[in-house]
Amino acid sequence: MHHFEYRDGQLFAEDISIKDLVKEFDTPLYVYSARTLRRHFQAFDSAFEGISHLTCYSVKANSNLCVLKMLSEMGSGMDIVSGGELFRALKAGVDPRKIVYSGVGKREHEIREALIAGILMFNVESRQELEKINQVAGEMDMKARISLRINPDVDPQTHPYISTGLKKNKFGLDLEQALESYKLARDLPHIEPVGIDCHIGSQLTSIEPFIEALNRIKKFHSRLAGLGIAIKYLDLGGGLGITYDEETPPHPVEFGKAVKEGLQGLDLTLILEPGRVIAGNAGILVTRVLYTKQSPSKNFIIVDAAMNDLVRPSLYGSFHRIDCVDQKDAPAYKADVVGPICETGDFLAQDREIRQVEQDELLAVFSAGAYGFTMSSQYNSRPRGAEVMVDGDKVTLARRREVYFDLVDLEEQCF
Ligand code: LLP
Repeated sequence: MHHFEYRDGQLFAEDISIKDLVKEFDTPLYVYSARTLRRHFQAFDSAFEGISHLTCYSVKANSNLCVLKMLSEMGSGMDIVSGGELFRALKAGVDPRKIVYSGVGKREHEIREALIAGILMFNVESRQELEKINQVAGEMDMKARISLRINPDVDPQTHPYISTGLKKNKFGLDLEQALESYKLARDLPHIEPVGIDCHIGSQLTSIEPFIEALNRIKKFHSRLAGLGIAIKYLDLGGGLGITYDEETPPHPVEFGKAVKEGLQGLDLTLILEPGRVIAGNAGILVTRVLYTKQSPSKNFIIVDAAMNDLVRPSLYGSFHRIDCVDQKDAPAYKADVVGPICETGDFLAQDREIRQVEQDELLAVFSAGAYGFTMSSQYNSRPRGAEVMVDGDKVTLARRREVYFDLVDLEEQCF
C-alpha cells in the first residue's frame, strides 16, 4: 500500500517521476511519500477507534522533521528514546502531553529536559532508573508520571537483534522485579505510577505474540490493583511488521481488532508505538549505477548508495526489493548490488535476480522509509544523501545533501 508506482515504464513517487527528482536532487536520494505516510497513520490509528487510545509514532524509525510535523498535525503522539528525539519532536510541534519516553539508558539531563517539557510519561526500564527519575524530579520539585516496562518473556519470532521481550534481552523488568519496583514507585515522593508498558520486538508478522504479551500484562495488572496503584495507561509498544518481500503481516485493522478484544472490560487508555508500519513503505532510496563487473563467480552492480546510507542488509541480512527506475526489456541475471565502501559486508542485495543494467541507470531500493536514513552514517567519509518529501505534485527538500564541509565541521578546532 504505497504511492511508488510505474507509469509508462517510469517509476513515480505520487505525481512526480523519480528521474525528475534525481535531476534536481542527485543520488543517493531518500524519497518519502506524504500520502503514504498519512494513509498508514490513518489506517493504524483508526484501527483502534472505539476505545480510548493514543498512537505515539516511534521517532527512531524516521525522525525527519517533515515526517514528525506531518504526523503530529494528524494528532499523533511520539515515542522517543533520547533527548535528541525529544528536541526533534518539540521542534516539530508535537504536543508534549503526547510524548512517551522509552529506553534503558536515560541520562540525568535527558530526564530533566523531559520533565521541563512536561511529557506524558517515562517508560522506566530499571529500579535504578526509577530512583534517578525520582531524584531529578525531586530537585525540580515535580512529580514524574511513569510506566514500568515489563519484559513479558514472549518470543516475537523475529530477527534476534530486534527481539526485545525475551528474558535474555536487556529491556524492561521481569514480572517479579517489576512488582517490587511498582511498590517502590508507589512510595517514592516524586513518582506517580500511571501505566504499564511493554515492547516485545520489531517486524512481527503475526498477532499471537502481541496477544500473549497482552495476556501476561493483564494478569500482572490485576496483581497491581491489589497494591493500591491506579493504572490508567497500557502501552503495548510498537513492532507490527511490513512486507519487504513475501511477508504477510496482519493488517492494522486485524491487529486492532485482536487488541481491542483483549482489552475488553479494562478501563485503560491504550498507547501504541508504531514505527516501521507507518514509515517503512513510505520511503525509497534512489541510487545510481556507477559500474558493473563480473568476477569468475559473481556479477556485481556497483551503485552510489552504500551501507552508510542503508545499513539494514549488512546488519541484519535484510531483504529490500530493488527495481530499475526505468522499466526496460533486458535479460535478467543474478547480481550482488554493492556500494563503494571498503567492506565485504557493504551490499544492498546479494544474488538478486535483476534485469541487466547499464552504467548511470537509476535503481530504487524499496521499503527504506524506516530505519533507513536514521541509521545512516558518514563511514568512509561519505556525506549523507538528501531526503525529499513528495506530496502529490509538490516536492519539499526535507534534508539537504551533506557536503564535504559537514564531514569536518566539528573538527575544525584542531587547526
Ligand atoms: N517502541 C520501542 C520501545 C522500540 O524499541 C521500538 C523499536 C518501537 C517502539 C518501534 O518499533 P517498530 O514499530 O518500528 O517495529 N533497526 C531495526 C529495528 C529496531 C527497532 C528498535 N525498536 C531494523 O532496521 O529493523
